[in-house]
Amino acid sequence: MCSGNHPTDCATTSYVHSNMMGKASPWDRPGKGGIKVGNDVWIGRRTLILPGVNVGHGGVVGAQATVTKDVPPYAIVGGNPGKIIRLRFSEEIIGKMLVIRWWDWDDEKIKQEADFLTGPIDAFVARHFTPQTIRALHGTAREVEARKALA
Ligand SMILES: CC(C)(COP(=O)(O)OP(=O)(O)OC[C@H]1O[C@@H](n2cnc3c(N)ncnc32)[C@H](O)[C@@H]1OP(=O)(O)O)[C@@H](O)C(=O)NCCC(=O)NCCS
Repeated sequence: MCSGNHPTDCATTSYVHSNMMGKASPWDRPGKGGIKVGNDVWIGRRTLILPGVNVGHGGVVGAQATVTKDVPPYAIVGGNPGKIIRLRFSEEIIGKMLVIRWWDWDDEKIKQEADFLTGPIDAFVARHFTPQTIRALHGTAREVEARKALA
């Protein structure tokens, strides 16, 4: 992951004050912000994620990718600049996975569900995106997402 950018619109991109004069740099412009990485993201070998980029839950950054833009949930990106190669699942399944949010489970439940977590996605979603799932979200902001995913 790559930290902040140096200004590119001055005569130099070097921090002359701090590097050569022991003084604070006059550059205090807001950068593009930090990098946010969602849950269950797989980051391949030798990748570079630039400042301000958000990698959505379930995203995959392919080997050697340079990621310059946000990665949507469950998208696989590759290349330089990184482009979406494909989504891991259908939009419907992605919507349901973002409601299930298995990464919020406690360790015991993750262990109990290990075979489903690592098995076919349809069986996992059928098991966990149920009327009870939606009922449990009643009155929360996530209920809206759940109903959208169901539509
Ligand atoms: C990104 C990745 C997960 C995609 O795997 P996949 O879904 O099986 O993709 P495929 O091999 O079927 O390739 C699909 C397309 O994406 C391209 N592609 C695959 N990986 C790519 C990468 N890292 N960068 C750029 N393009 C890539 C392929 O060339 C192919 O292009 P085409 O459709 O034009 O022929 C995998 O290639 C990868 O990079 N894995 C990371 C490996 C790693 O770093 N492991 C470290 C140990 S954890």
